[in-house]
Amino acid sequence: MCGIFGYIGQANDAAQKVFNGLLDIEYRGYDSWGVAYWKMDNVGWKIEKRVGFLPSSFKFPASNISIGHTRWATHGGVTVTNAHPHLSCDGKLALVHNGIVENYLELKKELKSHKLKSETDTEIIIHLIEDRFKNNSLKHAVAEIFNKMAGLSAIVVSDGREIVACKRGSPLVLGKTKSGFVIASDPNAILPLTNKLIFLEDGQLVVLNKELKLYEVKDLNEIQAEFTNIDWKYTQGTKGQFPHFMLKEIYEQPQVLYNQIQSLDSVEKIIKELKNAFGTYFLGCGSASYTCFLGEYAFSKIAKKHVNFSIGSEFNYTEDFLTDKSLLIAVSQSGETIDVVEPVNLAKKKGTKVVALTNTLGSTLYRMADIKHLLNAGPEKAVASTKAVIAMVANLLLYAYGFAGKLEEGIKVIENSAKEIEEIIKKQGEIKKLADKIYQAQHTFVLGRGLSYPVALEAALKIKETSYIHAEGFASGELKHGCIALIDKGTPVILFVPEDETRPAVLANAMEVKARGAYVVGVGVEKAPSFDYFFKVKDVGASSVLPHIVFAQLLGYFLAVKKRLNPDKPRNLAKSVTVK
Ligand code: M6R
Repeated sequence: MCGIFGYIGQANDAAQKVFNGLLDIEYRGYDSWGVAYWKMDNVGWKIEKRVGFLPSSFKFPASNISIGHTRWATHGGVTVTNAHPHLSCDGKLALVHNGIVENYLELKKELKSHKLKSETDTEIIIHLIEDRFKNNSLKHAVAEIFNKMAGLSAIVVSDGREIVACKRGSPLVLGKTKSGFVIASDPNAILPLTNKLIFLEDGQLVVLNKELKLYEVKDLNEIQAEFTNIDWKYTQGTKGQFPHFMLKEIYEQPQVLYNQIQSLDSVEKIIKELKNAFGTYFLGCGSASYTCFLGEYAFSKIAKKHVNFSIGSEFNYTEDFLTDKSLLIAVSQSGETIDVVEPVNLAKKKGTKVVALTNTLGSTLYRMADIKHLLNAGPEKAVASTKAVIAMVANLLLYAYGFAGKLEEGIKVIENSAKEIEEIIKKQGEIKKLADKIYQAQHTFVLGRGLSYPVALEAALKIKETSYIHAEGFASGELKHGCIALIDKGTPVILFVPEDETRPAVLANAMEVKARGAYVVGVGVEKAPSFDYFFKVKDVGASSVLPHIVFAQLLGYFLAVKKRLNPDKPRNLAKSVTVK
C-alpha cells in the first residue's frame, strides 16, 4: 500500500515525471497524494499535497529532483498534513514512506526538540534522520534510523542533491534513464522511461546522485549494482468505451478464460509438482483466498486429493508442519500482498517449493517463487478483482482435472463456462433490475454449499466492497446454526443452486429463509417455487462456479452504480495491500 515514485537527473521536468509515475501507481492508495520537488534555482523544497484522487494532469515548474507518494492511510487520518512527502524541521530533507513503523512511539521519545505537524508514524523518521544528518552523510543518517525501525517499510529521502532509499518488505525498483535515475514501488510505472532495472532487495540501501551506489543497510558495505534489461511491455489500462474499469474487466473475462486453455505448459509443470509433493498448501488473501478455498473443494471432488487452504495472514501461525517436501501454491493478483509474501518467505526458509500463481510479472511473489505461473489476464485496474479471480479459479480447476488425468475434460468445462459467461454478460439487464430492487438493503446474505460455498464468500465480498452493503457469505447449512436470526422481512438472500449434489439441500435452505420473510434470489439451472427472483445459469459442471462468480460481479457493479459510488475505487481500499 502507498505508492512511491522519485526521479533525479539532468532532465528539468522531474516533478512532472514523478506525477506521471504516480498516476500509474495510484492503485496502491488513493487517500491523498503529494509531490516534493527541488526547484532549479536551488531555493529548497516546494510541495504540492492534496486529499483524494490524483487529477488527470497537473502542471509543475522546472525541477531536476523530485519524490512523490500516493497514500493509503494507516497512522493518522486522511488530511493534507498527514499526506506525504514530509519535511524535516529545517525544511532541508523530504521523505516518502510505504509501510508501518511498528516502534514509532518508542522512537518518538527521542524527539525532544522537534515540532511534529502530522499524526503519522512516518514523520518521526524524517526528524530522526534530520538529527543524524547534522554530523553525518545522508546515507549514514538514513541507514542508522532505518536499522532502528521495526516492521516492514520502504523509505525514500532526499536533501535536494541526492536520493537515499532503503527497504524491508515493501517493494522498490530502480531504473536508469538517459538523463538520470528513477525509483518506484512498481516496475510497470518505470517502463515508460526505461527498461534497465534493478529490484532493490530487503536490507539494501541505494544512493542516487550522478551515479548509483548500492549498500547493505546494516553495515553500509558496498554491493555490486547491475542493471538488467527487462523485456516487459508497459501496461497502461484504459477504459475504452466503458464507463468503468470494473465493467470493462468483467467483459474481458471470456477471452481471459480462452487464453488460459491455449497454453498449458505451466499447468502441466505444476501438476507434476503436485504429484511429487507430500502436503500441498494453497494460500491467498481476500478474493484470492476464496479461490484457494474453492481449490480445496475442487481437488477433493475432481482429483480425490486433499490439499490444505489457508488465508495468507493466518498461515504463519499454522505452518509448523511445512517441510522441504511440501508444495506451497501462493495465489495473488498483484504478487505484492504482504500477507502472502511473508509466509512464502518463511516457507522458503524451510526448503518448501513455492509456486506463484500471479497476474504480475516481476512482482515480489513472482521473483521469490521456484515455479512461476502467470495468469496473463492483462492489467486489472478496478480495485475489486474480477478477471484475475476468474483466471485463478480456472487454473486451480485445471490443476485438479490434470491431477486426475482428465485435463481434456477440464479444458472443455472451462471453454463451456467462457461461453456461458458471454451469455450472462448479454443478460446483464436482468441483474441490473435486481440491483435496482435491493440497493437500499442494509444487509444481504449469500449462501452456497460445496464448491458454491467459496463462491458465496466471493460474491459477498464483491457486494461489500463495491456497494458498501453489508453482505455475508455462508455455507448454507450453517445459517440455521445462529445467523438465521438476522433474516427479517425483505432481507435479500442470494442462493447459488447449481445442478450438483448440493441442490436439494440448498433448496431446503431457500424454503427456510423464505419462511422468515427473506427476498429469495436463486442463481442456477432451474427456477424453484421459493425464489422471488431467478437468474438462469446453464450447467457447465464444476466450472459453473465461474459464471456464478460473474453474476455476483455484475450485481456488485450495478449496486455501486445505482448508489452513485465509484466501483473502481471503493473507499478505504487499495489494489495492492503491502502492509500487515
Ligand atoms: O493482489 P492479491 O490477489 O494478493 O490481493 C488479495 C486481496 O487483497 C484482493 O483479492 C482483495 O480482496 C480484492 N479487493 C477483492 O476484490
